[in-house]
Amino acid sequence: MTDPVEIFEVGPRDGLQNEPGEISTAQKVELIECLTRAGFSRIEIASFVSPKWVPQMADSAQVLAGVTRAPGVRYAALTPNLKGYQDALVAQVDEIAVFASASEGFSKANVNASIADSIERFKPILKAARQIDLPVRGYVSCVTDCPFDGPTPPEQAAEVADRLFGLGCYEISLGDTLGQATPDSVARLLLAVKDRVPVGRLAGHFHDTGGRALANIDVSLALGVRVFDAAIGGLGGCPYAPGASGNVATEAVDAHLKRMGFDTGLDADVLAKAAALAKGLRTSPKS
Ligand code: HMG
Ligand code: MG
Repeated sequence: MTDPVEIFEVGPRDGLQNEPGEISTAQKVELIECLTRAGFSRIEIASFVSPKWVPQMADSAQVLAGVTRAPGVRYAALTPNLKGYQDALVAQVDEIAVFASASEGFSKANVNASIADSIERFKPILKAARQIDLPVRGYVSCVTDCPFDGPTPPEQAAEVADRLFGLGCYEISLGDTLGQATPDSVARLLLAVKDRVPVGRLAGHFHDTGGRALANIDVSLALGVRVFDAAIGGLGGCPYAPGASGNVATEAVDAHLKRMGFDTGLDADVLAKAAALAKGLRTSPKS
C-alpha cells in the first residue's frame, strides 16, 4: 500500500489574490470546478479580507455561491477577523483559515497589527467556529525569512504555531511566504515546531521564488509532514510580501510525490487541464 500525501489546493485564493489582471467570478468558478474534478479533498477558494487591501478577492461570496459543491470536498476561505468570519458563514463556507505571521514586520504589513493583536482577533473566531464544529486551519507566514525583518528564528515560528494550535486550529500550515527557505532552514524550523505541535497536524506551504520548493518538500517528508499546500499552474504570491512569487505548482508537486511512490489521489490529466486554465488566467491583461 502506498503512503498517502495530501495536496491542499490554494490556487484560487493564494494564487488569484495576486494576479494583476481582471479575473471574472465565472472564470474563478470554472477553475474551481475543474480542480474539484481532479480529486482534492480541500480547496481554498476565497478570502473574506478587506477589499481595499486585496481587491482580487472582493467577489468571494459570489465565488462560493457560484461553485457547484461536490460531496466530500471542503471549500475553504481566509478570515482575518470577526467580520470576515461572519461574511464567510453567510457564504456557507465549509472551513475557514486564520493567518498570523512569525515575524512582526510582515504581520504589520499584511494585517496592520502586531502578531499578538492579530492572535487576539482570532480568539472570538475560534470560539464561534467551535460552537458550530466549523474546521479552522491556521497559517503561520514568514516561517524562515521575512522581507522586512530578515531570517526568522525557528523558535519564534514554533511559538506562533503553538499558539494557533492551542487556540483550536486543527492544522497549522507553515508558510515560506517569500520562497527563500532552504532544506536546512526548513529542517531547523520543523525540528523546533515538532516539539510543540504534532507533526501529523502540520502542513508545508512553499512559495517557489528560489526554485527550492520541491527540495523543501523532500526534507519535510523526511521529517514526517504529509500535507502540502500548492497552487495550480504555480499561480500567485502575496501582495504584502515584496518579491514573493507563486506557490509551488500543484501539478509539479503531484508528479514529484507520485515518482517517490506517494499516493495523492489526484487525477494528473484533470490537473493538466486545470493548470492550462490557470495559466490562461495568469496572462490576463491588467484592466
Ligand atoms: P485595517 O485597515 O487595519 O482594518 O485592516 P480596520 O478594521 O480599520 O478596517 C478598515 C476597513 O476595512 C473598514 O472599512 C472595515 O469595515 C473594512 P471602511 O470603514 O474603511 O469602509 N474591513 C473589512 N472589509 C471586508 N472584510 C473584512 C474586513 N475587515 C475590515 N474582513 C485587515 C485590517 C485585517 C482587515 C486588513 O489588513 C486585511 O484585510 N488584510 C488582509 C491581507 C491579505 O489578505 N493578505 C494576503 C493573505 S495572507 C497570505 O497570502 C499568506 C499565506 O498564503 C501563507 C504564506 O504564504 O505565508 C496565507
Ligand atoms: Mg502563501
